[in-house]
Amino acid sequence: MSTTPIDNRYATTQRFTTNTGIRRAARQNCSDEVWNYLNCGTGDEVTLRANTADFDKLQWNTPLFAGVAHPDTTTEFLGHRLSFPALIAPFGGGEYMLDAEGHRATGRAARDVGIRQIVPVAAAHTLEDIAQATGVAQMFQITFVGDVGAVVDMMHRAKAAGYEQIVATYSPIRQWRERMMEDRTRFAAGKSDANFGPGLSDPAALHEQLAFTRPRWGWAEAREAIARAPLPIIVKGVMTADEAKQSLDAGAAGLYVSNYGGRSIDRQRSAISALPHVRAAAGQNVPIIFDSGIRRGSDIAAAVALGANVVALGRAVGYGLAADGEAGARRVLELLRDEYWTTLGHLGCATTADLGPACFL
Ligand SMILES: Cc1cc2nc3c(=O)[nH]c(=O)nc-3n(C[C@H](O)[C@H](O)[C@H](O)COP(=O)(O)O)c2cc1C
Repeated sequence: MSTTPIDNRYATTQRFTTNTGIRRAARQNCSDEVWNYLNCGTGDEVTLRANTADFDKLQWNTPLFAGVAHPDTTTEFLGHRLSFPALIAPFGGGEYMLDAEGHRATGRAARDVGIRQIVPVAAAHTLEDIAQATGVAQMFQITFVGDVGAVVDMMHRAKAAGYEQIVATYSPIRQWRERMMEDRTRFAAGKSDANFGPGLSDPAALHEQLAFTRPRWGWAEAREAIARAPLPIIVKGVMTADEAKQSLDAGAAGLYVSNYGGRSIDRQRSAISALPHVRAAAGQNVPIIFDSGIRRGSDIAAAVALGANVVALGRAVGYGLAADGEAGARRVLELLRDEYWTTLGHLGCATTADLGPACFL
């Protein structure tokens, strides 16, 4: 006897039905070495675990008889309409090992789902190539290191290619990534340095980023670079109220709360626990990006409720790229958007703007 199902909600024809399944498929596609590159933290990986564990400690207040059937997930960020409050985080150095199309693929996935990506300076494709492949405005991540003039020149290059904001990063000294030390990981020559070389940017800048031969920048150099920048600067790695104030004082147009997914130094606090302090110091009107630990649509809602305007997605998108290239990255974004949608509805939020501290018990 055949029966007609009355509930088809779970019967998708899509290849991947959940982000948990996408992560499983990614694991199968990656060698141990590539998997460790994507997943590693530093030291004992305490911060890496805290980034997700601290989301798990949050408890929603789900109002009875006050849910919303058709919440609007869209938002506006720096003049752009996004289909949900997310960007793709810059993950470079070895993204070509997940899929040869790298940020060309993730950029197209972002475009198709109605969000944007932050392109890393250490990408396997030039910033111009990625801009052309995706055809939409994006942000460019650049490390504040080496000659201030060379950094400013590269920002001009990004502007000429159509990028609209710069995400400025800082890395004081080599990171202690034991998984990669045990794997003796090597990155192929001619891959993460696509942006450097004759007619492009000076390879000395990338070399200095990795070699740490010169004293690192202080606030004076950062302030100078921001003052000379042809595009608005968003400072990444802001984890305290003081850093928020110093960044804004130095001319930043926005802040980016992040501990780089626990990849810089272990025993930093989780990024989500830092976010409310940064928002309180910045005031309501400063644009804030948040990353480190976003795995679910409900994480996105939690970060926005605690003060972020948008989140950035690092490993979550890396899993999609490793599972099924551009289609996998696109599917990750769709699933995150849909889970964010259902979270809004359960919380009684008709729009992203309705999220706030009252959403928690
Ligand atoms: C494999 C990998 C490579 C990364 N490379 C960069 C990079 O080149 N520049 C940068 O600013 N951040 C880099 N990050 C940090 C991400 O931008 C982001 O802060 C981090 O992934 C957020 O943590 P989550 O992935 O756990 O959500 C990288 C992260 C990963 C996982």
